[in-house]
Amino acid sequence: MKIATTLLLTLGFGLLAAPVMADSIDHGHKDPTYQAECGSCHVPYPPRLLSRTEWQQITGKLDQHFGADATLDDAALKKINAFLNANGATQARATPAAGKLPRITETRWFIREHREIGAGVWKKPWVKSASNCAACHGGAEQGGFSEDDVRIPRQ
Ligand code: HEC
Ligand code: HEC
Repeated sequence: MKIATTLLLTLGFGLLAAPVMADSIDHGHKDPTYQAECGSCHVPYPPRLLSRTEWQQITGKLDQHFGADATLDDAALKKINAFLNANGATQARATPAAGKLPRITETRWFIREHREIGAGVWKKPWVKSASNCAACHGGAEQGGFSEDDVRIPRQ
């Protein structure tokens, strides 16, 4: 409890001190196939958080997807690729180690945006992994990441 309070205070200051970053997430662009297929194991990550090329690397290797098998049929894959191509960033965002897939959670943007969160928080049972956006972002399932909807749940 005490830790959570301290964390919230720290985050409060972080909020005031941080330069206002334009919300880089496009809430308008959604695709039902993407939401259903790429939002079943984790939240449907906002396409703009990785580049088109990075998304292609991910959807090109769905049989070896971060330790899971996320294989899709051709029709769904086609729709999802078109969606990611239309809404992905133009510039590469991640710098994965050789042979690894790009991750949003390893981009400099993500690390900067979450720098106030203590290393231990990511490992808490209610978070499990930084990839589990919905643990803290109330609107993540719907693609929303507004700072008004962030919570650090109790431990
Ligand atoms: C069968 C379950 C499953 C499905 C379906 C699935 N994923 Fe994943 N995905 C995972 C797992 C497991 C991870 C790793 C999570 C972790 O490290 O905690 C992951 C991680 C990711 C990451 C990296 C998140 C980070 O850490 O930045 C991206 C990006 C991603 N998935 C995109 C997709 C896309 C796009 C689709 C749809 C084509 C998809 N996923 C469908 C299981 C799945
Ligand atoms: C352990 C909790 C936690 C997890 C997990 C988490 N975040 Fe955050 N996120 C935060 C906090 C706290 C902030 C800081 C709020 C602030 O300073 O505005 C933040 C800030 C953000 C912001 C900036 C919001 C704004 O309007 O300034 C975005 C976008 C964001 N996170 C996306 C993500 C994504 C995408 C994931 C998953 C890949 C994720 N977060 C995982 C807690 C978390």
